[in-house]
Amino acid sequence: MKLSKRLKAISDLIKPNSKVIDVGADHAFLDIYLNLYKKCQCLAIDKSEYSTKTAIDNALKYKADIKAITNDGLKNIKLNDEIIVISGMGTRNIMKILNFDLKNDLILSSHTNIEDLKNFLKNKKYYIYKEVIVEEYKTYDVIYAKRKDDRNG
Ligand SMILES: C[S@@+](CC[C@H](N)C(=O)[O-])C[C@H]1O[C@@H](n2cnc3c(N)ncnc32)[C@H](O)[C@@H]1O
Repeated sequence: MKLSKRLKAISDLIKPNSKVIDVGADHAFLDIYLNLYKKCQCLAIDKSEYSTKTAIDNALKYKADIKAITNDGLKNIKLNDEIIVISGMGTRNIMKILNFDLKNDLILSSHTNIEDLKNFLKNKKYYIYKEVIVEEYKTYDVIYAKRKDDRNG
């Protein structure tokens, strides 16, 4: 399967065998690709039941072993060491979803107000570990952010 340039750029940031939670997964193409080609364990979350059904249908079609659920963001999701991906949403929505104390690695691609997103991450003690600019019809910024070690602020 072939991903869009933007989703491929996100997948390139994720190491094989990673655990991934993709919030706003919609069709779950990213998760399917990560499972098939990088053996990642993926949970595809979307608030739309229609998207979840599409994700499940796509997973069956491509014979990928992913989980897909309908949920509002990360509400009631128990987090461990998963990488959280949120892409294809606006900064306000991303900030709402991440508005709690979290430590997981984050891969974010917002289509609005990148500077607001960067300030939000800074206030949450995250630093930008990698940043990739993708040109595909328009310019997309993909940010890989990690939580600073609490010991050295
Ligand atoms: C434009 S799609 C992005 C799909 C894919 N992540 C990508 O980057 O191509 C945005 C998706 O986010 C979902 N979404 C928006 N807010 C959400 C929330 N709070 N929790 C879960 N899903 C959400 C929408 O239902 C929609 O399917």
